[in-house]
Amino acid sequence: MLNLRTGQVEAVVESYLPPAEGYQKTVLDAMDYSVKAGGKRLRPMLMEEVYRLFGGQGKEIEPFMAAIEMIHTSSLIHDDLPCMDNDTLRRGKPTAWVKFGYDMAVLAGDGLLIYAVETAAKAFSMTDRADLVGRCIGILAEKTGIYGMIGGQTVDVELTNQPIPREKLDFIYRLKTGALLEASMMIGAVLAGAKEDEIHITEQMASAIGLAFQIQDDILDVTSSAEVLGKPVLSDEKNNKTTYVTLEGIDKAKQEVKRISEEAVACLHSLPGKNEFLEALIRMLVSREK
Ligand code: IPE
Ligand code: IPE
Ligand code: MG
Ligand code: MG
Ligand code: MG
Repeated sequence: MLNLRTGQVEAVVESYLPPAEGYQKTVLDAMDYSVKAGGKRLRPMLMEEVYRLFGGQGKEIEPFMAAIEMIHTSSLIHDDLPCMDNDTLRRGKPTAWVKFGYDMAVLAGDGLLIYAVETAAKAFSMTDRADLVGRCIGILAEKTGIYGMIGGQTVDVELTNQPIPREKLDFIYRLKTGALLEASMMIGAVLAGAKEDEIHITEQMASAIGLAFQIQDDILDVTSSAEVLGKPVLSDEKNNKTTYVTLEGIDKAKQEVKRISEEAVACLHSLPGKNEFLEALIRMLVSREK
């Protein structure tokens, strides 16, 4: 079920990638390589499902689906750099910096980040609700920036090699991972014309999904294998990171993933409409193996 949807979402995302040509071909190749390397496409998938939940039927969701995956991929390119997590495998392939060099990987991350905005702006010509598209571009920027993902990554990187209390770890996870999921799901809701209180519940639901998702990521870092994950295991230990697993132990971490995912499902149930795929997707995050 998930694989089929991944393929459909992937086709949308890839259709918005720029052609790799011209004097700047190297950076375009690195962007293309990193997006096409694969991945679960969870963020655009959640965006589209929330859009459908609120009755959205237009095409203007598509540039935003591509944009969020470009931003996510840019964050992975930078996260893997030698100055950050210093990892050499991503999505089953050598990381962008290994393949294209440190310099090109920095530029490819920057390139994808801003091409995402250029892509999202294509939605203006696909709808008569320019106001909603404008609001969504604002959400995209805010949730990616210093009050969102980049803010979370900042504290994450700065506190490497240091013990972190639970509240600060929650802050890091809500920002570094939760914020992009919030953007994904809020944009689906806003573009479909959801009401303010529904958008707010959607944001809370996404925040819970983000937290559960990152805790599960920490668990997989110690319990899985590079073959299954497509990225190195024990990366957190190598970098001496405090994670939910080091702080709370593996059993408590697993319980937390379950508990927080159910919080997200409860948010979903409090919204009008029904989307069984979305509910199954949220529950799947608990048992996901990659
Ligand atoms: C990895 O995200 C980074 C985290 C926020 C934990 P994903 O697990 O969604 O990575 P891909 O997109 O499937 O490669
Ligand atoms: C990174 O968290 C989250 C980002 C914003 C990129 P991790 O460093 O745990 O992600 P992985 O495990 O490398 O995918
Ligand atoms: Mg990291
Ligand atoms: Mg990492
Ligand atoms: Mg990780």
